Amino acid sequence: MMSVFKLAFPKINFSGVGAIEALIERLLLEHQGDAGLLICDPAMVKLGFSNKLLLSELNLTLFSAVRPNPDTNTVNSAFDLFVSSGAKYLIGFGGGSAIDTAKAVRILSANPGPIAKYNGVEQVAQLGVPLYAINTTAGTAAEVTSNAVITDTETHVKHVLISDKIIPDVSVNDPSVMLGIPSAITAATGIDALTHAIESYVSQGAHKLTDYISLEAIKTIAEYLPQAVDDGSRIEAREMMAYGQFIAGLSFNSAGLGMVHAMAHPAGAQKDLPHGVCNAILLPIVSEFNRPYRVEKFAKIAQALGLDTSELSPEQASFAAIQGLKDLNRRVGIPSGFAELGVSAQDTLAWVDDALADPCAGGNPQPMTREQVVDLYQQSL
Ligand SMILES: [Fe+2]
Repeated sequence: MMSVFKLAFPKINFSGVGAIEALIERLLLEHQGDAGLLICDPAMVKLGFSNKLLLSELNLTLFSAVRPNPDTNTVNSAFDLFVSSGAKYLIGFGGGSAIDTAKAVRILSANPGPIAKYNGVEQVAQLGVPLYAINTTAGTAAEVTSNAVITDTETHVKHVLISDKIIPDVSVNDPSVMLGIPSAITAATGIDALTHAIESYVSQGAHKLTDYISLEAIKTIAEYLPQAVDDGSRIEAREMMAYGQFIAGLSFNSAGLGMVHAMAHPAGAQKDLPHGVCNAILLPIVSEFNRPYRVEKFAKIAQALGLDTSELSPEQASFAAIQGLKDLNRRVGIPSGFAELGVSAQDTLAWVDDALADPCAGGNPQPMTREQVVDLYQQSL
């Protein structure tokens, strides 16, 4: 018997060039002169894209002190500005960092702090003010999901807040603001999206519907990520990556993730490393561990990666998928391991407990023992 399957995503999504303008039109209708807080990635301010909103007729206050791996201090500062500006709604404009900050402020707009109280699954009681999310990377899919990851400034632990109440009301994917993203960030965020697709596909929470979406996401990302990395001005590649990461987000928001994310979170929190790079390093290694428990699915992943599996048994094809993931990492310039990023074997030992306690761990096809996590971290150096 199948367990209960929950499908959860934003009420509205605008995708394509001009999607930001469609959002502005909707905001003018819904909020008229109400004040709103725009929580924006500083890069979007620098590139002038924030002017699309700031120079419109919307009554917005700008908060742009968003940092990668947003922390509890960032959230508190943004919330202070939310209160003092009298904002009635929130816009998160950026990658995961800006949107996750906006999600945390949404929680605090209707629930008492500190934000760390809401770590875990469905801990949020009250729905906060409306939240609109414009995604600028392809990507975390933060514009689609019920997750926000906030690093504790004191303890350096990543709080993973998972609640239906932080799913944005409207999500926006406009590839025109993705054209200027540097290739290293395109690569890391693209493999993050691929990780969402693969982890949701092999997850314990996978469903017939998410299987279909996950495979489509893997296929799309494998085809278009190298093109977007090679030449970031190719609008078709950007558009398809925006689509691939968006549908990967739809899938993992319902099917869940696994040990790649569970192990990447402490690495990012303790060493302030980019989320996408941590996932990319861990994806082939954790997939190798998971492969025997999902042979048929890894065989289909090999096909979706564009590999010719016609002459291979499912077992052989499943091994080809692991090699395909390693090759794709190399192709888009992902570091070969954590050692290249200044991480020692000793450092990884401090990540093990947090990885095992991470809310994503439960979705892995096979639970891992402490020793196995230690071993996989060693392999990831
Ligand atoms: Fe992710």
